[in-house]
Amino acid sequence: MQTVFRGRHFITLEEWTKEEVDTLLDVSCELKRDFAMGKPTPYLPYQTVFLMFFEQSTRTRNSMEAGITQLGGHAHFLDTSNMQIAHGEVAKDTAVILSRMGHAIACRNCFWKQGNEYLRELAKWSTVPIINMQDDLYHPLQGIADLMTIREKRGANTQHLKVSVIWAYATTHKKPISVPLSQVLLFPRYGMDVTLAYPQGYDLPGWVIEKARKNAEAHGGSFRITHDQEEAYRNADVVIPKNWGSWVTNESTEVVDSTLEANRGWKCTEDRMALTAKDSLYMHALPADRKNEVVDAVIDGPHSAIYDEAENRLHTAKAVMALTMGGR
Ligand code: CP
Repeated sequence: MQTVFRGRHFITLEEWTKEEVDTLLDVSCELKRDFAMGKPTPYLPYQTVFLMFFEQSTRTRNSMEAGITQLGGHAHFLDTSNMQIAHGEVAKDTAVILSRMGHAIACRNCFWKQGNEYLRELAKWSTVPIINMQDDLYHPLQGIADLMTIREKRGANTQHLKVSVIWAYATTHKKPISVPLSQVLLFPRYGMDVTLAYPQGYDLPGWVIEKARKNAEAHGGSFRITHDQEEAYRNADVVIPKNWGSWVTNESTEVVDSTLEANRGWKCTEDRMALTAKDSLYMHALPADRKNEVVDAVIDGPHSAIYDEAENRLHTAKAVMALTMGGR
């Protein structure tokens, strides 16, 4: 079991070996048990994590803020529109200066073709760990919480568990592709049989599909794509119907367009859940566009694991910080 994490960046789970991800899950479970028992876990006393947000957040911000407090440290919430970034200060200067003042820099920047590059630039100059709180391509904090939730509900042996990542209609905003992208790369590493379902125009990048297939081959699972949502629901053990934007085929920031409107029927309904395996799980990273992506009877119904999934954002965020900022 890998035990040396201090100083590591957490930008994608792909850059962490399976053994390292296993340790991260293990530590997350231990921190969750300690939290349940009211046991203090002061692994990071007096440490500061800077939380830079280019976009809104509920789960990520609060799991990181509550998490660092529970580890004995402190978070600075930084709305980047109120930082000198708004006047053009470059990533290098921000990274060097925050490195001199604290112990980790976490950042959310989901601007298409900019976010991941921005985090990489921070990592190039930072002397403390960079933690990805979601960029245009990856959301590793969500991916690891989702994996933890699936294992809690279905057991640690996820070999050939049928998991369907399904596009869904939403009008709230043009969402990043980072959640489905992280899921289709991560789940095949745990031997799951992953189905990616979406209507024409909502492709993930070709290199992601290639990597997802390679990850499936290496770990004995499978990966397939379908454009038929019913096929993705049929016999699935876990369904994750969620909207993402058509960024790969259309870089416009317009939220509602004819491609989106042509796919209003991509919605998680009770009829579609009836196609899934007995005791299947319904998951969603949240926020959900209720009534568009999913009907209330499903998201509030017996299959739904959304609140456990959201709670696991806390325990996994604490594990990421405890390992990369502390440890040995
Ligand atoms: N799932 C997720 O990242 O939620 P927030 O956007 O609220 O952080």
